[in-house]
Amino acid sequence: MKNIVSLCKRRGFIYPGSEIYGGFANTYSYGPYGVELKKNIKDLWWQIFVREKENIVGIDGPILLHPKTWEASGHVKCFTDALIDCKKCKNRFRADQLIEKILNIKSESLNLKSISSIIKENKIKCPNCNASDFTEARHFNLMFQIEMSKTDNQNEIAYLRPETAQAIFLEYKNILDSMRIKIPFGIAQIGKAFRNEITPGNFIFRTIEFEQMEIEYFIKEKEWKKTFEYWLEEMLNWCKEIGLNSNKIETHEHKKEELSHYSKKTVDIIFDFPFGKSELYGLAYRTDFDLKQHAQYSKSKQEYIDQETKEKFIPHVIEPTFGLDRTILAILSNSFEEETLENGEKRTILHLSPKIAPVKAAVFPLMKKQELISKSLKIYENIKKRWNTEYDENGAIGKRYRRQDEIGTPFCITIDYETLENDTVTIRERDTMKQKRVKIDYIKNNLENFLKIF
Ligand code: GAP
Repeated sequence: MKNIVSLCKRRGFIYPGSEIYGGFANTYSYGPYGVELKKNIKDLWWQIFVREKENIVGIDGPILLHPKTWEASGHVKCFTDALIDCKKCKNRFRADQLIEKILNIKSESLNLKSISSIIKENKIKCPNCNASDFTEARHFNLMFQIEMSKTDNQNEIAYLRPETAQAIFLEYKNILDSMRIKIPFGIAQIGKAFRNEITPGNFIFRTIEFEQMEIEYFIKEKEWKKTFEYWLEEMLNWCKEIGLNSNKIETHEHKKEELSHYSKKTVDIIFDFPFGKSELYGLAYRTDFDLKQHAQYSKSKQEYIDQETKEKFIPHVIEPTFGLDRTILAILSNSFEEETLENGEKRTILHLSPKIAPVKAAVFPLMKKQELISKSLKIYENIKKRWNTEYDENGAIGKRYRRQDEIGTPFCITIDYETLENDTVTIRERDTMKQKRVKIDYIKNNLENFLKIF
């Protein structure tokens, strides 16, 4: 993990948030390569789950929703963590995680009283200062509150959305009315979510501001089991598509006490991160809970009318949810390798799938000679119109290859004196380091074949 974090900062993928002010816990900025990687993942996800599916449409809803949304969804009441404070060093911890880590027992089903007594009885020590003197466990809501100023001096509390899902539920009726869509159908959204997470995360695994890629899939109740199986398969296929090693993936079905307040069945997709196995994605059967709650709280009709049978009902929902930042961490840790070459030299590589690599190709003149530079720039200008491409003329060619390996660029194109004679270049492949000579006219065809973007 240390090596990945260091590579991310050194090579412009991910920087710690607000660093010049000493940092701002659990926030990160995506740098130039990070943002390209992120965009490629979002584009691929949108392509596969929205554009290629006939019955899924997208939205981009607001981060700030009517505050009643969160009462209806149950988040005001139920979206809490049990927290304890160390009385000596004043650090705050998630009580369930402390118990699980130190005593290795599951604590989802425990109430606050039992949590507090387990901590006392087992004399659990503060991970920061070693004292065994905690406050009683208390519930803290994970939603960030903001104050909206109003003219009558009565400020209203609003929340930064803790999941993108609710923005979808609020538009379900508009989508039914404006798009000629029939059940089963899905609404997809990619966007930011915010949670006041207390526990320091493992890099971008758990942050206070993150992105989700979610689909709410509306069905008839009797279809839920087979739809659930279908989406589990789709999610596992997605993991393959982005190049995650299937040996690092497993599934975990939630026990009753682990289920969120809205779910009747949840299966997590677990990934073997460098710090251990943890949730990457989730698939939940949300029943008709959300639409029913919104119907009740907003006093609006959320029914679906089957045009053929004239049957009226509130649809049930299967929700595949994908954390974008966790996807990036999984991809980075899955693709990171430090290799020792035959000559003893070290090479760091990101074995990124070409589909999502931030830079698709790099163009180098073999030497810093004007005739090679002009030819290289011409080729570079041409390729960069189609794919994100870099040009580099500085330093030994070996060093330039290494720099591209480190950011996961699948192909390097080198222009040498033979190029000037017969219009051929070498294309060097990142993983095998094998080179082949191709005609300039075929570079695009060659890359097209290898990249197979869509
Ligand atoms: N709409 C359902 C929902 O939000 P969730 O399991 O709480 O379910 C969905 O979150 C996904 O969002 C998780 O599987 C994870 O990938 C990502 N996620 C959740 N909390 C996160 C956090 N604090 N930081 C980064 N990603 C997070």
